[in-house]
Amino acid sequence: MQGKRVLLIVSGGIAAVKIPEVVRRIREQGGHVRCVITEGGKQFVTPLSLAALSEDKVYDDLFSLTDENEMGHINLSRQADVIMVAPATADIMARMAAGMANDLATTVLLATDKPVICVPAMNVRMWEHAATQANLETLKQRGVTFVGPVDGDMACGEFGMGRMSEPAEIVGALVNFFNAGPKPLAGRHAIVTSGPTHEPIDPVRYIANRSSGKQGHAIAAALAAYGCKTTLVTGPTALPDPAGCDVIKIESARDMLAAVESALPADIAVCAAAVADWRTDTAPDQKIKKQAGADTPALTMVENPDILATISKAGNKRPPLVIGFAAETNDVVANATDKRTRKGCDWIVANDVSPSTGTFSGDSNTVHLISETGTEDWPTQSKSDVAQQLVIRIIRHFEAAE
Ligand code: CTP
Repeated sequence: MQGKRVLLIVSGGIAAVKIPEVVRRIREQGGHVRCVITEGGKQFVTPLSLAALSEDKVYDDLFSLTDENEMGHINLSRQADVIMVAPATADIMARMAAGMANDLATTVLLATDKPVICVPAMNVRMWEHAATQANLETLKQRGVTFVGPVDGDMACGEFGMGRMSEPAEIVGALVNFFNAGPKPLAGRHAIVTSGPTHEPIDPVRYIANRSSGKQGHAIAAALAAYGCKTTLVTGPTALPDPAGCDVIKIESARDMLAAVESALPADIAVCAAAVADWRTDTAPDQKIKKQAGADTPALTMVENPDILATISKAGNKRPPLVIGFAAETNDVVANATDKRTRKGCDWIVANDVSPSTGTFSGDSNTVHLISETGTEDWPTQSKSDVAQQLVIRIIRHFEAAE
C-alpha cells in the first residue's frame, strides 16, 4: 500500500470507534489516509483524533467556503486512489443507493469516479431489512465492493450479521485491492506458525510464554495479500484472523506439529511461533489439588517436538523454502547462525527479544535475515513492514529459481 491514498468516509455508527485503529494500520502499511466525517460519525469518534492519526485535516462541511477554496468535494475524490466508507450505516447506504448529495460524504460519493469500498455496520435487523438488502444489491450492481459485515455480538446486545469487520480485515481488503492484478505467489502454498503454545499441567493450568503472535500473523496476512494460499497454524492469541488465510487454532506444541504436518505439502514454511521447548511429563485429567501437609508438586519436564527442525528434515515432504525465527537475548546473530545450521532451515529471521527491546508484545521489530549467503541487518520497523519485506524476499527467491 506504499504511497496509496485512501479517502475514508466515517459515518455514524458505534463501530466508528474502531476507525482510528484502521487509520493507524493503513499508515503502518505505508498508505495515506484523508478522512471525511458525517455529523453522525462525530458522535462516535472525534475529528481531532482522526486528524492526529492521519496527520491531515478532517473534512466535514459541504458548505465551508474555506474548504471549497482549499479542497472541494471534487478534489477530495480526485486526490484519492480509493474511497472507503467505514462504517457504512444503513442510512449512508440508502443515501448512496438513492443518489443523494445532502452532506459532504454523499456529495463526494456521488461525484466520484474512483472505486468505492463499503464496510457495513449495523444492527442485524437493519441489515436484514428488505430495504437495506435492496440498497446493497443496487450498490453492488454499480460496482461498489463490500467488506463484511460479519456475524457476532453487537453493541445493542443482539447477536447476528451486521457487525463491522475487524480493522485487520478491513486493511487486508485494502491491501488486496491495491495488489489486485498480478499475484506473484498465486498457485503456491505457505504454512505459517504463529503465537505461543500452551502446555497443560492439568485441565486448568498451563505453561505459556509472552509471544503475541503479531509478527507471525502479519506474515500470514502479507503472504495471502500476494496471492499465496496460506495456512496459519496459531497458538492462543488475542488477534483477529488475518484476511484470506485458512486458520487452524491449536494449543500445544504437539497439536501444532500435527496441524503443520497435515497441512503439507507446501512451497513455503515460516515458523514464527514461540513453541514451548518443554511440557510436563504428565498432564492428569483432573485438577491437581493442594493437600494439607503434602509437598508442593514437582513438575518433571520433557522436550517438545521441534516443528521447524522436523519439517526442515522432512525428506520429500520438505517445503522448498523453510524459514525459521530465532528469539535471542544475547549474541543474536551468532546464536541464530548456529540455529540455522542446527535446525536445517534455509533462512533464519533473528530478533532480540530481551525485555528492554519490547519485541514480544510490541508493534516493531529489529531483525537480521540470515541465509547461506550471509546476514542482512534490517532497520527497526513495524512488524507489518518486516512481514512485507520478508514476503518480497520470498517472491524474489521464487522468481530467481524459475
Ligand atoms: N521452534 C519450533 N519448535 C520448537 C521450538 C522452536 O518449531 N519446539 C522454532 C521456532 O518457531 C523458531 C525456531 O524454532 O522458528 C527457533 O526458536 P527459538 O525459540 O529461537 O529457539 P529454540 O529452538 O527454542 O532454542 P533456544 O530456546 O535454545 O534458543
